Amino acid sequence: MCGIVGYVGELQAGPVLVGGLKRLEYRGYDSAGVAVLNGNELTVVRATGKLKNLEGKISVEMPKGTVGIGHTRWATHGRPSDENAHPHTFEGVSVVHNGIIENHLALKAALKAKGHAFSSETDSEVFAHLIREAQKQGKAFVESVRAAVAQIKGTYALVAISDAEPTQIVCTREAQPMVLGYSQGQNFVASDVAALLEHTRDVVFMEDGDLAVVKKTGIELMDRSGKVITRKVTRIDWTPGMAEKNGHKHFMHKEICEQSRAVADTLRGRILRSEGDVHFDGWPFSEAQIKSMDRVWILACGTSWHSGLSGKWMIETLARIPVEVELASEFRYRDPIVSKNQLAVAISQSGETLDTLAAMREAKKRGATTMTLCNVIGSAMTREADFTVLTNAGPEIGVASTKAFTTQLVGLYLLAIKLGRLRGTLSVAQAQEHLTALSGVPTVIEAVLKTEAHVKEIARKYMHAQDFLFLGRGTMHPVALEGALKLKEISYVHAEGYAGGEMKHGPIALIDEKMPVVVVAPQEPHIHYEKIIGNIEEVRARGGQVIVVVEEGDEHAKSLGTDFIEIPKTSALIAPLIATIPLQLLSYHVADLRGTDVDQPRNLAKSVTVE
Ligand code: AGP
Repeated sequence: MCGIVGYVGELQAGPVLVGGLKRLEYRGYDSAGVAVLNGNELTVVRATGKLKNLEGKISVEMPKGTVGIGHTRWATHGRPSDENAHPHTFEGVSVVHNGIIENHLALKAALKAKGHAFSSETDSEVFAHLIREAQKQGKAFVESVRAAVAQIKGTYALVAISDAEPTQIVCTREAQPMVLGYSQGQNFVASDVAALLEHTRDVVFMEDGDLAVVKKTGIELMDRSGKVITRKVTRIDWTPGMAEKNGHKHFMHKEICEQSRAVADTLRGRILRSEGDVHFDGWPFSEAQIKSMDRVWILACGTSWHSGLSGKWMIETLARIPVEVELASEFRYRDPIVSKNQLAVAISQSGETLDTLAAMREAKKRGATTMTLCNVIGSAMTREADFTVLTNAGPEIGVASTKAFTTQLVGLYLLAIKLGRLRGTLSVAQAQEHLTALSGVPTVIEAVLKTEAHVKEIARKYMHAQDFLFLGRGTMHPVALEGALKLKEISYVHAEGYAGGEMKHGPIALIDEKMPVVVVAPQEPHIHYEKIIGNIEEVRARGGQVIVVVEEGDEHAKSLGTDFIEIPKTSALIAPLIATIPLQLLSYHVADLRGTDVDQPRNLAKSVTVE
């Protein structure tokens, strides 16, 4: 996710743009920039790193002019750098973009064949060149923008200015948020309302295909066909702080609720359904290399380690290659036996966790090929690994990982399919089945989020418990571990996750009427359903309380629980992705009801860059 803002009015655009970007910095913070028109004179200033670096640059000389666009970046293509920072400019056309252009390589090649030279590694720069090409064919600026986006496969929230028509901004969206701000003698466009509230509360939320021409005297809005339309003006009554969270009370809640979009963005451009295969940009490994591999190491910490445990199931099931999931902090000190025919996958939301980075370096030093599954392009792990797969979840601000976890599971599932096809352990038809199941996950997530009110009531009932136990078997064991971690780290309630089969080896001694036991029990073949039902009965027989997560319609399991949460039925390797969401909501609401600092829990940091 990136932050975008545009202004046309009487004020100097520079300070307005920077003020808006400050309100959007949570959407991305690896570089920022502004482009301002003063008549036909276009000035562009960009800076790598946090917004304050851009402010430092323009404090010397603020660009003059009353029309401008600004951007704070969350990199998806091209590492964080001045060259890759937006706005991107070509021959007087300057653009800012949020989204992913799937066909950018093909478009770039065609433009280069016409003599275009590109100055960045990004996909977004393509827009400036396409618009300029259309202008050269005699099209007006607005039609040039329309012609440019007509060639795009992917998603965009695009805002553009041109020195050829310097009194207007043209903006359009497809599958990425964009909002127009209306005010007397000045008008705005932004990624979301947070950037606008200082100036106006009257906004229009643009819809896919809409295109707007923003001038200081007014905004002309058109639909995909070019027909002039009007949309309802909404009066926003949020405070600016609320707006940064898009109306959510906490970033964690916002991030739980945006998992459908995060998963969709992680899948985008990677599902080759007709070939029954997976596309990873820049995949470097040959079939022979993959076939020669005799082990996959997964190195991670915390939530990322839990996703690695699920990844083991996926990769061993589909690619039939042994997977060792290692706590990074242990791996690096135990003189591990690693060889060159092995792949070490470092999983990390931040890409900066020192234990994981050091473990990846250790594996590399011992001969393994390294890969990272990471959410932050340009982070240490993405710079050092032999290959990177990005989770495209957008910035995760809440310390407790939620959308990072689910998008890591998606990345691992895609990797398992890719490895299975290369090793010949997965047929085209089988891969197509898995890809179809993955494609449906965003919709299933939306359905699960609808259980929130019910989960909140369960949280209210058990919020005073001092200890929780989370149980799961097979593919649900990692889900149980993750559920326990979520609860303990944001509500400060002691919680342990256990494999259900371990209950009789000790934990059952803990059972009493005061300790809620959360049991994850969808009817999946990989979770030994009858045995987990036995665990529920064991707990109930000893007076314990059971909150059971079950598939919709499983009346038997529901009847055994003190309380239950229903989730849609999914396939075995999708189930962990879905079952984790009610546990995220349960932990969130227990913590919120207990009044802890949900987004910044005590003693924790978002990225642990120390040993
Ligand atoms: C998870 O909610 C925690 N914030 C923590 O366990 C985290 O997963 C761990 O520190 C690893 O972080 P990373 O994914 O950025 O490497």
